[in-house]
Amino acid sequence: MHLIREFWRLVRSFYRDIFRRKHLVFVKDGPFPRPLDEGDISFATYKRYDNVPEPLRRSMLSACTSEATEMNQIELANGADMHLAFSKTDSFWAGIVFTRRGRQFDSWYVPLDDDDVVYFRLGVRKEFRGHGIASRLLRYGMYADLQNGGRGFIDCRVYNSPSIRAIGRAGFRFLAKANKMKRSQAIKPVRRG
Ligand SMILES: CC(C)(COP(=O)(O)OP(=O)(O)OC[C@H]1O[C@@H](n2cnc3c(N)ncnc32)[C@H](O)[C@@H]1OP(=O)(O)O)[C@@H](O)C(=O)NCCC(=O)NCCS
Repeated sequence: MHLIREFWRLVRSFYRDIFRRKHLVFVKDGPFPRPLDEGDISFATYKRYDNVPEPLRRSMLSACTSEATEMNQIELANGADMHLAFSKTDSFWAGIVFTRRGRQFDSWYVPLDDDDVVYFRLGVRKEFRGHGIASRLLRYGMYADLQNGGRGFIDCRVYNSPSIRAIGRAGFRFLAKANKMKRSQAIKPVRRG
């Protein structure tokens, strides 16, 4: 049993190594209706960590590694916005996605218009996975970001099946397959004040 598991682990990591650089790109056109307010999960948007209410921020900081927190802060300092999903009853952090406008990119997988919005660093806390939070968070983000025009874009690794399914549930459609872009190729290094 152990040998079979080890065999499949090796096959999977071999497959991932081959396809690590391959990304799928998705797009969603409007309309972007307001998501239904159901269950215990709520959503909010922040431009800085300091603006996140204390219990939610504490819960986020305790759940994320210091590397992830540092990267989140770098994205915010470089003009990204952060959409959060959290539990209404105890402000427990449940999910995160960042956004950046087309105009903030030097280049991306496909040509972007200024008002388009790219969603990235999508993540749902382990305890909350499998409840459709990622797709609700993306729908909330598109409702918040795209009322005045523009399209939503997102990319993920070809083998990230949970992510591909969540992206599909948010209404995105497959657009292209491309080699992974480095962050330094994609964005202008502009810091927010
Ligand atoms: C990808 C991710 C954001 C999906 O979030 P989510 O809110 O769990 O999304 P969904 O509820 O729509 O679930 C997606 C699929 O993952 C499955 N899944 C993955 N991990 C799971 C877990 N720990 N518990 C339950 N279901 C899980 C779900 O069953 C579902 O499969 P289905 O379509 O057959 O029902 C989340 O798994 C995650 O944070 N992964 C790590 C980071 C990542 O890969 N980010 C994406 C970068 S583009």
